[in-house]
Amino acid sequence: MAEIDYSSEIKRLKKEKNAVILAHYYQNDDVQDVADYLGDSLKLSQTAKDTDADIIVFCGVHFMAETAKILSSQKKVLLPVMDAGCAMADGITREALQAYKDQHPDTKIITYVNTSADVKAVSDCICTSTNGLKIIQHYLDAGEKILYAPDQNLGKYAMHLSGKEFEVWNGCCPIHHFLDKNKVLEQKKKHPDALIISHPECQLDILEISDYVGSTAQLISFVKQSKAKEFIVCTEQGVLHPMELQNPDKKFYVGSKSLVCHSMKKTSLEDVYNCLKNETNEIFVDEDVAQKAINALYTMFALSK
Ligand code: 13P
Ligand code: SF4
Repeated sequence: MAEIDYSSEIKRLKKEKNAVILAHYYQNDDVQDVADYLGDSLKLSQTAKDTDADIIVFCGVHFMAETAKILSSQKKVLLPVMDAGCAMADGITREALQAYKDQHPDTKIITYVNTSADVKAVSDCICTSTNGLKIIQHYLDAGEKILYAPDQNLGKYAMHLSGKEFEVWNGCCPIHHFLDKNKVLEQKKKHPDALIISHPECQLDILEISDYVGSTAQLISFVKQSKAKEFIVCTEQGVLHPMELQNPDKKFYVGSKSLVCHSMKKTSLEDVYNCLKNETNEIFVDEDVAQKAINALYTMFALSK
């Protein structure tokens, strides 16, 4: 049997079915290459909200496809690999957050987008790594008591920058949290002219030695406009693909070989093709949960303008 050319078949099916492919920067390179929209968690959620396609194939992890479904409830949202989860999102439940809320009824709950729809539904506002600092600052300026959940590292970084104390959940992304500072310093020793650029899910000791801290999209924009020629990148390795494509004259090194999100790497081109062809792995969100989560998501969109 002749081999299937997945890229051209995906292109054909997209047209036939009025489908779009959204992919996160941590996806495998060949999956990024077939995407109509490549982005960070914020841009992809905005794209899902605004698209007029009938089908969204979300190449990312489960909470991202779920967020797309909440924001685009009339569309069919498909996730090529159903068990592509996020360790940070899996570390917090609605029950645990609700219990906190019951004990602290005056506290505003700002929740990272890397959470389930259930968790978003008991939150006051959602944020991503792109707008997290701005949103937290907004609530602090308004004199509110806040809990930031679940990423302790972005929370601690926001406290460090704002000089203000607030409650932070103790969750984390294991890929970023366990990045060893010594590995990054070894890279710096090998490449002394390289700038260290890091995602705020890394611990404060990494952020303190970084020349720039930002979300995936912010890191990609930073390297594009920077005059520097070499970068040590402290986030999941997938971002090196767009960085290298956009900057053929610059060199990129990973902060450590351990910076791989295996959930993000589960999706292959074949999975994308099968999912689109058979319209399998549809994502559903309970209507009541979606309605509550949407309020928190729209608060984020309003505050991140
Ligand atoms: P971004 O918001 O930068 O896309 O990050 C998402 C994520 O999962 C980081 O680990
Ligand atoms: Fe979740 Fe971490 Fe993977 Fe991002 S890198 S999707 S936070 S497990």
